[in-house]
Amino acid sequence: MGITKICCIGAGYVGGPTMAVIAQKCPQIQVTVVDLNEERIAAWNDEDVNKIPIYEPGLSDIVKEARGRNLFFSTDVEKAIDEAQMIFISVNTPTKTYGKGKGMAADLKFIELCARQIAKVAKENKIVVEKSTLPVRTAEAIKSILDNTGNGVKFQILSNPEFLAEGTAVQDLLNPDRILIGGDTTEEGQKAIQALVDVYANWVSEDKILTTNVWSSELSKLTANAFLAQRISSINAMSELCEKTGADVNEVARAIGMDSRIGPKFLKASVGFGGSCFQKDILNLVYIAKSYGLNEVADYWEQVIIMNDHQKRRFSNNIVKTLYNTVSDKKITFLGWAFKKDTNDTRESAAIYVADDLISENAKIAVYDPKVSRKKVLADLDYLESRAADENVNSVLSFENPYEACAGAHAIAVLTEWDEFVAYDWQKIYDSMQKPAFVFDGRNILNGSDLEKIGFVYQAIGS
Ligand code: UDX
Ligand code: ADP
Repeated sequence: MGITKICCIGAGYVGGPTMAVIAQKCPQIQVTVVDLNEERIAAWNDEDVNKIPIYEPGLSDIVKEARGRNLFFSTDVEKAIDEAQMIFISVNTPTKTYGKGKGMAADLKFIELCARQIAKVAKENKIVVEKSTLPVRTAEAIKSILDNTGNGVKFQILSNPEFLAEGTAVQDLLNPDRILIGGDTTEEGQKAIQALVDVYANWVSEDKILTTNVWSSELSKLTANAFLAQRISSINAMSELCEKTGADVNEVARAIGMDSRIGPKFLKASVGFGGSCFQKDILNLVYIAKSYGLNEVADYWEQVIIMNDHQKRRFSNNIVKTLYNTVSDKKITFLGWAFKKDTNDTRESAAIYVADDLISENAKIAVYDPKVSRKKVLADLDYLESRAADENVNSVLSFENPYEACAGAHAIAVLTEWDEFVAYDWQKIYDSMQKPAFVFDGRNILNGSDLEKIGFVYQAIGS
């Protein structure tokens, strides 16, 4: 029997877009996305599709098409669980902030709560699909909770990691490089795998759908993110060497990227990677390796994070050093706060850490990001607990308009690679700034020689 009703627990950056695309591509399946967060669900249901809580290019059109037809957003978690034959768990798995594994292991409390809720509600056999990034062997924990409920319902647990990148989520979902599904090797397990394969086969060719066992699937997700993050730390390590020796890291990246064994993607030197996945997944990998006593493996991967932290700190130190060793009461304008372009997500954004360093040096930070509000900027800084919240309020200036944000500034730091920054009237910006006017391009997106002709002092990463 084909699946006709899907429920997804968690209406976040993964659950929301993924379910919207499944609903669009499978009109015969009713898809209900549930979340405990009432405000978030209300925003997903907002009549104005431009007000949905997650900004992703192309997403609002898909929501507009499917919402109310076979795509629903609700806070009634139990009803949706009860009705669905297949339940995706797409809740957040942040790094633990307490107890054993603090700062490293993934916090599975939200996952466990979901499993318990499913166990409580389910009256018929169900397929449970892990969609969040999870440490390996989570499926085992979910299974043990579900199997011990005592109400005789049988569950099949599948791992179906999501590889979408934010900012290109819709394209990644519509044209995935691959779909990975892990399940039990038993007959029931294989049937469950096939049920999920059939969902994806509505728009993904079957040669791109890989099936494997649950553990391999879970570990593949961590490995993919670790490899991607490692490439960025590798090129960032070279960027520091380039700066000292007069080479240009963009040229180096171009040269090595043409080697078909290396390939050109993910070689862009930057102020450091951010986002909810890379750091969390690597820390998790490190934790798992350590827990098996694999200290060399753990240290190897931890170095990717150490390098990334160093890159962020190096960027802020360089701003202070270049501005004559003091930024006290100087206005420094941040162009961008999101962790990458085309998203309103700021989790682990390099901007947060660079701002934190500069505020500790008494700088005033003027932030302009086309998709991030002042409220979010302050919340991100408060989360670090480096100082009292009112000090952050006094240190962060926000503007609706980038030209206002730059007026009177001693320096501009580019923290996100939004396309619009390149198209600004840089002469106008220069005229409004303190002199000498500095630009620290943390994304290597601006044309340095054009800016130097205007009169800016321009510094990029790795040259
Ligand atoms: C990542 C993975 O790409 C995705 O497969 C997984 O499902 C989730 O984690 P995401 O974090 O959304 O996706 O964005 P990604 O494009 O990978 O960028 C991560 C960070 O690395 C961003 O801060 C980005 O600016 C930075 N980056 C990326 C670089 O600094 N240089 C690069 O060359 C590429
Ligand atoms: P991701 O990037 O992994 O999608 P988000 O934080 O954007 O992470 O989304 C996860 C969502 O899961 C949040 O909106 C949160 O409210 C929701 N959530 C967490 N636990 C539960 C639960 N037990 N039931 C329903 N929703 C939950």
